[in-house]
Amino acid sequence: MKSYKIALVPGDGIGVDVTEAAMEVLTAAGQKFGFALEAESFPWSCAYYLQHGAMMPTDGITQLRAFDAIYLGAVGWPETVPDAVSLHGLLLPIRKAFNQYANIRPHRLLPGVEGPLKSERFDILCIRENTEGEYAGAGGRVHQGMGNEVAVETAIFTREGVERIIRFGFEQARARRKHLTSVTKSNAQKFSMVFWDEVTKELAADYPDVTVSHMHIDAMAAKMVMAPESLDVVVASNLFGDILTDLGAAIQGGLGFAASANICPDRSGPSMFEPVHGSAPDIAGQNIANPIAAIWSGAMMLEHLGEGEAAAAVLLAIESATAAGIGSRPGTHATDAITKAVKSALES
Ligand code: IPM
Ligand code: MN
Repeated sequence: MKSYKIALVPGDGIGVDVTEAAMEVLTAAGQKFGFALEAESFPWSCAYYLQHGAMMPTDGITQLRAFDAIYLGAVGWPETVPDAVSLHGLLLPIRKAFNQYANIRPHRLLPGVEGPLKSERFDILCIRENTEGEYAGAGGRVHQGMGNEVAVETAIFTREGVERIIRFGFEQARARRKHLTSVTKSNAQKFSMVFWDEVTKELAADYPDVTVSHMHIDAMAAKMVMAPESLDVVVASNLFGDILTDLGAAIQGGLGFAASANICPDRSGPSMFEPVHGSAPDIAGQNIANPIAAIWSGAMMLEHLGEGEAAAAVLLAIESATAAGIGSRPGTHATDAITKAVKSALES
């Protein structure tokens, strides 16, 4: 039987709850479709930080490299560890170390889920640059605490980084409805964003079958609310993609439905799968977090591992649960009840 080695990093808060839920469904998918998930769990989290003074051991990245994929719940417990410390100690280094430069986030309404918009027929695939740009981590502070204090944070856009993410966007568009929208702010940011626009235009020559639109981030925010059905694949920088995908989550009914995959396209390292939502300390451990985003992210992991049939079946099972009203509205079903509904739909 085929077997895949999965590194589980449940992390903090509801990350733990939803990782357990996702693994329950993914294991059932393996039983049905004839593969095993050999999961090893790592306790790396804010609790781990308080004990060890680091979010993960110094050889954490080396340990993860041996796996076929990484599944992450959520990271952050700001009451005890500042977010800037916990995220730069775990999630962000993993994305960078394994060159997971494409962060893929699908936004569409599941059956039975009521979004806040009039438009219900949208299917957007957001491709967020995941390793550089505004979140490159380049910068510094001087004269801290003094009147003349200066903080600088520089966005880094490399030709390699920009080309590969836009090319990835074109490839995704080619496999879908053949429409790519590149999001920048080149009217105000005259170096990095003009550069991004130029690279998009250069690459467009290789994809004559794909229609390209250029939009500014502010106009795009409005478009995602007013006419989301006009969008297909959207490609954006790290910061812009981060913001747009929370907006995407909102129009698809909330963060409980927003899945994501941090992909290393050349497979030189493992890719990582995680729901878009955070650790939500206020509802942690109460069996009330919606596990659907986490299970959907798990389906994206199966797809990446080459188990496309199982991935499609998990998605169908999610849809049959939400269509029956289970997990489709906040506060009506417990985490384990939604998980059970998805699992039994999968097994039926
Ligand atoms: C996300 C999150 C992270 C990000 C944070 C927690 C650093 O918001 O995955 O969208 O911005 O990448
Ligand atoms: Mn975010």
